[in-house]
Amino acid sequence: MEKVEQIIKKWNNDPDFVIEMMQDIQDEFRYIPRETLEEVTLQTKVPLARLYHIATFYKSFSLYPRGKYEIQVCIGTACHVKGAPLILDSFTRELEIQIGETTSDGLFSLEGVRCLGCCSLAPVITIGDNLYGGVKVADVPKLLAKYKEGNNE
Ligand code: FES
Repeated sequence: MEKVEQIIKKWNNDPDFVIEMMQDIQDEFRYIPRETLEEVTLQTKVPLARLYHIATFYKSFSLYPRGKYEIQVCIGTACHVKGAPLILDSFTRELEIQIGETTSDGLFSLEGVRCLGCCSLAPVITIGDNLYGGVKVADVPKLLAKYKEGNNE
């Protein structure tokens, strides 16, 4: 909780900066634990219901633990046509999780998203901040191994 207090203090307990506080909390914990929102409410007087509204409105916020690396598999039309469902199946098999879940080691979360805006590269995925185009099913285990080994820079 000390870290949360530092974050709130960094933004001078200013209710106009609750989104920034929540972004910092998300970065710190990879999700926004309930007790951190209660602390933000206590320190800024912004109602808890408003913070929950913000947390659920913005896709970048999560109220449950996320993996160190978020995997987004594009399931938009162009990617679908080029085999995205098979790529998604491969991730669920390799990671033994479904969409919206996080692996038990906390390393990966899996999401399906609608169009990442680069359809000419279909099928497209992102892992963390990296984007991969023309992904094949055979690439999935290799990509995961790379991240598990920390060779993803
Ligand atoms: S449909 Fe996948 S990037 Fe556009």
